[in-house]
Amino acid sequence: MKKFYEWLYPKKIVLVTSADRTGRPNIVTLAWAMPVSMEPKMIAVSISPKRYSHELISDTHEFVVNIPGEELEQQMLKCGSVSGRKVDKFEETKLTQEPAKQVKAPLIKECLASFECKMTNAIQTGDHILFVGEVVEVHERREGKGLFDGENDKIIKI
Ligand SMILES: Cc1cc2nc3c(=O)[nH]c(=O)nc-3n(C[C@H](O)[C@H](O)[C@H](O)COP(=O)(O)O)c2cc1C
Repeated sequence: MKKFYEWLYPKKIVLVTSADRTGRPNIVTLAWAMPVSMEPKMIAVSISPKRYSHELISDTHEFVVNIPGEELEQQMLKCGSVSGRKVDKFEETKLTQEPAKQVKAPLIKECLASFECKMTNAIQTGDHILFVGEVVEVHERREGKGLFDGENDKIIKI
């Protein structure tokens, strides 16, 4: 079984932003992300130590989880295929930075929602690191497609 995890797909893709100490930002595409606590609100993202984003989040203990709509497919593929060590992905994708309120990493303006997170734990899980972050600020811009309505237990199709 080469790719056992594909049995868990489809998944919602997220674009996670982080920044170095000078404020230079980066974007990474992640499929392995999930909510892990209601109160406080927490999100966990699983990132390989090979990624530049891993280095940035390990250093700053901050990240933003941005929720893209389907129209950002090309940008998701780009941010998931090149490293921020080599390219400026905001420049490459023409996505727009918006300042966050409580973290240095920027928000992505074109995304449906953005969650500012402060890292609380980093757990080694085999060949990835599970970064757990407390959501310290929520930005909801508009409703998206295929969102799960947890209160009414149904998929919202807009
Ligand atoms: C659809 C998709 C999902 C991905 N999911 C993950 C993931 O959950 N964890 C991870 O470490 N890398 C994942 N990747 C790979 C990274 O996005 C990719 O290696 C990226 O170029 C790393 O960028 P960075 O070096 O700037 O951090 C995914 C890539 C794609 C295209």
